[in-house]
Amino acid sequence: MRRLLRKRPALGMALLSGVSTAVGIVIVLVIDWFPVQASTASPQIDTLWDVLMIASVPVFVLVMSVALYSVFAFRAEPGDLSDGEPIHGNTRLEVIWVTIPFIMVSALAVYGWIVLDDIEAKQTNPLIVNVTGQQFAWRFDYPEEGKVKSTQLMLPKDRDVEFRVNTDDVLHDFWVPQFRLKTDAVPGLTTKIRLKPSRIGEYDVVCAELCGIGHSTMRAAVRVVTPEDFDAWIAKEQQSEDDGGAAAAGGDEAGAGRQLFTDTGCNRCHTLADAESTSAVGPGLDDLTANATAYGKEAKQSPEEYVKTSIEDPGAFVVPEFEDGIMPADYAEQLSPEEIDTLVKYLLSVSSQDKP
Ligand code: CUA
Repeated sequence: MRRLLRKRPALGMALLSGVSTAVGIVIVLVIDWFPVQASTASPQIDTLWDVLMIASVPVFVLVMSVALYSVFAFRAEPGDLSDGEPIHGNTRLEVIWVTIPFIMVSALAVYGWIVLDDIEAKQTNPLIVNVTGQQFAWRFDYPEEGKVKSTQLMLPKDRDVEFRVNTDDVLHDFWVPQFRLKTDAVPGLTTKIRLKPSRIGEYDVVCAELCGIGHSTMRAAVRVVTPEDFDAWIAKEQQSEDDGGAAAAGGDEAGAGRQLFTDTGCNRCHTLADAESTSAVGPGLDDLTANATAYGKEAKQSPEEYVKTSIEDPGAFVVPEFEDGIMPADYAEQLSPEEIDTLVKYLLSVSSQDKP
């Protein structure tokens, strides 16, 4: 058998490669690589992926077949310590193995470019959504829809959307796997992606760039809804933003505080039962009143002063067992003095007096 294979190596390798390629292509096509397709770009990207896979399998199989076949057919006989025969180049073979991959890679590059060009084409009258990443939350605002701000991404089905992505601090990466598209949020730059949601449903915005201790918690909800539901949502958000200001001025301080706590993204890092948040990136706030009294005493601050300082200048006092430099230090710029005041009162009103 070995003698025959040694005499006709091409035959053996062709057999092995042919069978393995067929099996390999079936396997890569059967695997369900991606979640549901929720944008018009998804089918194009999935097809591109399949074509890349189908093109890669024969190359992989060929290389592995030659390697494995040679290991088997040309291994030394026991006790054979002689040198192998010297090998000279084979021009025809070399031309073939340069030309074929060159053509393959060029064709795939052209195909990829066509798909990319199509996906990134400018649209008329897109819905503009500003996306801002911040350790460890996403914020969205709709500059042309009454300046609505939200921590959840609401999108109408079948309308072109242009995302303008920014970051307040470090690199993040805006990614909705069901839309297939992603882009980095780069300090000092605005990056853009365009897409058209094509499926009603709820998905996740995922941060796809390791951005710090809370990276894995940096998610936000995406909801694709009908255009009517979207308009209704915009109207409601505008209303509640007006109400939020009125509530803070007029009476419902706890409600305004809770809203601010969530809208600002505090809930992404801090546990607080009243706001139904459970993240443990930063210190839990359910015992804030007790802690603020204790820690505040050391710094000769009232609990109110302590909490205010902790929001505006997180490095001033770092709770034991937590690290400095993780909480963003720009809330004094992001929030108005009244908003900070509302947050301080809210946090002290909903946290317990008892030491844990
Ligand atoms: Cu933001 Cu990872």
